[in-house]
Amino acid sequence: MAKLLRKMVVLLMFRLDWRKLISIFVILTVLQTNNEKGSPMILLNSSHQLNQSILSSKKKWEESQQRRRRNNLTSTNTFAPSSHPSVKNLPSRVERYLRSLAPDEALAFIKRDIDNAPLDSTDDPELYAPLFRNISTFKRSYEWMERILKVYIYGEGERPIFHQPELRGIYASEGWFMKLMEENRQFVTKDPKKAHLFYLPYSARQLQKALYVRNSHNMKPLSIFLRNYVNMLAAKYPFWNRTHGSDHFLVACHDWGPYTLTEHEELTKNTIKALCNADVSQWIFNGGKDVSLPETYIRNSRNPIKYLGGRKVSQRPILAFFAGYNHGRVRPVLVKYWGDKDEDMRIYGPLPSRVSKVISYRGHMKSSKYCICPMGFEVNSPRIIEAIYYECVPVIIADNFVPPLNDVLNWSAFSVIVAEKDIPNLKKILLAIPLRRYIVLQTNVKKLQKHFIWNVKPTRYDMFHMILHSIWSSRVNHIQIL
Ligand SMILES: *[C@@H]1O[C@H](CO)[C@@H](O)[C@H](O)[C@H]1NC(C)=O
Ligand SMILES: *[C@@H]1O[C@H](CO)[C@@H](O)[C@H](O)[C@H]1NC(C)=O
Ligand SMILES: *[C@@H]1O[C@H](CO)[C@@H](O)[C@H](O)[C@H]1NC(C)=O
Ligand SMILES: *[C@@H]1O[C@H](CO)[C@@H](O)[C@H](O)[C@H]1NC(C)=O
Ligand SMILES: *[C@@H]1O[C@H](CO)[C@@H](O)[C@H](O)[C@H]1NC(C)=O
Ligand SMILES: *[C@@H]1O[C@H](CO)[C@@H](O)[C@H](O)[C@H]1NC(C)=O
Repeated sequence: MAKLLRKMVVLLMFRLDWRKLISIFVILTVLQTNNEKGSPMILLNSSHQLNQSILSSKKKWEESQQRRRRNNLTSTNTFAPSSHPSVKNLPSRVERYLRSLAPDEALAFIKRDIDNAPLDSTDDPELYAPLFRNISTFKRSYEWMERILKVYIYGEGERPIFHQPELRGIYASEGWFMKLMEENRQFVTKDPKKAHLFYLPYSARQLQKALYVRNSHNMKPLSIFLRNYVNMLAAKYPFWNRTHGSDHFLVACHDWGPYTLTEHEELTKNTIKALCNADVSQWIFNGGKDVSLPETYIRNSRNPIKYLGGRKVSQRPILAFFAGYNHGRVRPVLVKYWGDKDEDMRIYGPLPSRVSKVISYRGHMKSSKYCICPMGFEVNSPRIIEAIYYECVPVIIADNFVPPLNDVLNWSAFSVIVAEKDIPNLKKILLAIPLRRYIVLQTNVKKLQKHFIWNVKPTRYDMFHMILHSIWSSRVNHIQIL
């Protein structure tokens, strides 16, 4: 009976807004209390009766709100009488109620709420709206994450492939995420039945180091290893089979991340993958579901943002800068057209020492208007985030690349994306951007920094939370509405 009732309530939730959820919550509490006392259940055998109860308790609630307003008792712990009260002010009893639901039921409700997110007109000093595709849905979704999200981390798996984060180098994103996720207290649950997401805590970089046979050109052993791991979890727990892996996620920054999944079809297709190698021309990364993971080159793991900052616009005499290995399909073309020919276009292979003696690599980034970020062997490049740290507007040249956190961020607001075929026109394209527009781009880059910073102790909206949010958001968006 209680189960049936719960089902009814859940069904109704999809048709009702916030205020009504509260009313229903009131009814449910009454029913449960009665039940506990052993008195007969209130009969909800007709939807008419249910309607009546909802209406009457809604009325009572509204009356109490009016009384409050008359008495000018605005308390942060009450719902504003709009149909979209802030998630922050969600009464804890409603939160408890949402938590008592099966994870999918709660997510279905939350998805509906986010889809109808109120337009965000408040000036949140922590968020700069122009950076986002839709600040209203982002904010709503983020706040729900903070209130509700629970992640279960599988304890299985031995070091170093599992549970051993590497915090330095160009693949450090996967390590930093792992470290901060495993240390986290707010989101992690020990009870898998409460979890909305299941984390597969391995490092693609450690997998490569441990299992790849040098010069073998064979990733199959890595892929078989992961397949066996997932099959082991699927046999031991009911969770994988329940959703065929679609509420599971992994975070892999190594270039090979996507290719090491291919021996397991469900792992490849269903799992939410946060990948640095976010290349939609490969069939593995799914732009509508997977998360483009920022690639950060961490040299100093104690202080990942040691050199943050750059010069003012007026003190950036160089139009465009690139230095790096001349590999992959794009860089040789770039260097061929622009290498060492044009004073405005400082395009090199590896930075020659005659140049670096005068201005360092970092110095170049801090005093250039645009930092060119061509793909290497794979689409992503740690330069993109470096450019943001040094307040240089990134110019991304990598067809089929989904830029980092593209699901929530509007990359047109703070970067320039140039098609590979337009490399010969690069200078013309950059010069065609008026100074006024450039200043907007560069201002936005500065505002963006905080979202791409690893904090030893994570703070709101920082890189850890942004990545976790995109994973959460993917999960919420793919929930099946009953
Ligand atoms: C609901 O239950 C009451 C009490 O058992 C009964 O009198 C009434 O006929 C029922 N209504 C419907 C629509 O089944
Ligand atoms: C319940 O209320 C809705 C509107 O709130 C109405 O459309 C519906 O007909 C009502 N159902 C019953 C059985 O009274
Ligand atoms: C209600 O309280 C607010 C802040 O506490 C105050 O600014 C406002 O003047 C009060 N309104 C009335 C009608 O007392
Ligand atoms: C943002 O999303 C909300 C909710 O779906 C929608 O009402 C609004 O129009 C969107 N805003 C923009 C700028 O797309
Ligand atoms: C999950 O499915 C696999 C393959 O069908 C099966 O071998 C495994 O025993 C199942 N796991 C559980 C817990 O039933
Ligand atoms: C993204 O930014 C560009 C440039 O600032 C703007 O023209 C466009 O409308 C923005 N897109 C969205 C979805 O806000």
